[in-house]
Amino acid sequence: MKISIFGLGYVGAVSCACFAKLGHQIVGVDINEQKVNLIKNGKSPIIEKDLDEYIYEGIQTRKIDATTHVNDAIARTDISIVCVGTPSQINGNINLSYIYKVCNEIAEALKHKNSFHTIVIRSTVVPGTIQQCVQIIEDISGKVHGQDFGVASNPEFLREGTAIEDFWHPPYTVIGTTCPKSEKQLIELYKDIDAPFFTLKPEESEMIKYANNNFHAVKITFANEIGNICKELGVDGHKVMEVVSSDYKLNLSPYYMKPGFAFGGSCLPKDVRGLNYKAKMLDVKVPMLNSLLPSNEYQIQRGLQLVYNTGKRKIGILGFAFKAGTDDLRESPVVELIETLMGKGYELSLYDSNILLSKLMGKNKDYLTGHIPHITKVLKGSIEEVVKESEVIILGNKSPDFAEALKNIQKDKTVIDLVRIDHESVTKDNYVGICW
Ligand SMILES: NC(=O)c1ccc[n+]([C@@H]2O[C@H](COP(=O)([O-])OP(=O)(O)OC[C@H]3O[C@@H](n4cnc5c(N)ncnc54)[C@H](O)[C@@H]3O)[C@@H](O)[C@H]2O)c1
Repeated sequence: MKISIFGLGYVGAVSCACFAKLGHQIVGVDINEQKVNLIKNGKSPIIEKDLDEYIYEGIQTRKIDATTHVNDAIARTDISIVCVGTPSQINGNINLSYIYKVCNEIAEALKHKNSFHTIVIRSTVVPGTIQQCVQIIEDISGKVHGQDFGVASNPEFLREGTAIEDFWHPPYTVIGTTCPKSEKQLIELYKDIDAPFFTLKPEESEMIKYANNNFHAVKITFANEIGNICKELGVDGHKVMEVVSSDYKLNLSPYYMKPGFAFGGSCLPKDVRGLNYKAKMLDVKVPMLNSLLPSNEYQIQRGLQLVYNTGKRKIGILGFAFKAGTDDLRESPVVELIETLMGKGYELSLYDSNILLSKLMGKNKDYLTGHIPHITKVLKGSIEEVVKESEVIILGNKSPDFAEALKNIQKDKTVIDLVRIDHESVTKDNYVGICW
């Protein structure tokens, strides 16, 4: 394929070198003449393992060329990969001016081109940027997206220092586009990279990069905070995190990685509080661990807001133990939601197949009667009863019965899903998800 690569910094230079190695014909483009000349002379503009050799080979085999002339690069290629910088502004917002400038330049060049061209945004950009790029290019070039050109998101996951190795073995390849022609070209472009391939909506693809990097930041900060507490306790934090990281069932796994309602139960809130208190006693600052309970509380507020938004007063709740398959009610966030709604005078009816008053005993019974007064009046014997009496139905846990019942709920009743009960319902008009 014939590919122009805009921006010859870390991402662009590595992309030039590796796509050339895959046999593609590359034209590197940069506003910085020094970088362009270095590449033309077979030298890397950045320090990166093996990159000098790759670029030297690319120049020798005439697979790589470089220029400062956009028109020339667009005329000679079918795909442009944009790798220009997206630095932070002083207020934290991302500076997209380099991206939009390149789109302007490419759009001008496209005026003189008759064949289809794909523009790939490889730089890290906030969701919505691809759509903005499409608009800019259509406005300036007078061409039509999907017909004369296509724009795709294709985030980069390389790490400096192991960039070439990461290019060959990325965790996955992600593309986001609404243009089928561009999608086809990109599938072809990455066919020799052995990694899972995801085709998503542009905004999803753009978001993946942010979710990844923020998750990395969360992990690093978490390990540091645990390490700091461990040091004060005379415990080896590395040993602790080594064992924590060896758990692929609950820790490094999709478990607990699904957006939804607040956490609860008899352990998580208690143990988060316990470690926060211990850190306080040790005079160790743990801003991230401190933020967990307020963030969790906010998720309950979001759930309540969804109820308030409906303007309805008769609320049914299906599932209020903190998860399906248990009758443990202690610190169930749904119970907290119920308490607040009751306090505000909403008419409630509740059902949970695991909560039978006659069978509850001990701490669980005390918790329920203490937190939900008049429980005998509001607790119903079946899903149908709750649905019949309510204008709004809240799904509080993932009991399979609820997914089944959801299929038959009348359209005039609003369903508020806190747990993403199934995928089919998401598109229904009377359905609202807490964070989807
Ligand atoms: N560096 C990394 O490890 C890494 C990894 C993944 C993703 N990213 C993302 O990739 C993007 C690029 O990062 P980088 O570190 O390679 O940036 P960089 O600053 O090293 O390189 C950007 C290059 O773009 C050039 N440029 C600016 N305007 C241009 C224009 N109009 N036309 C042509 N070239 C132009 C600059 O001269 C510079 O050489 C950023 O969005 C970054 O967040 C970076």
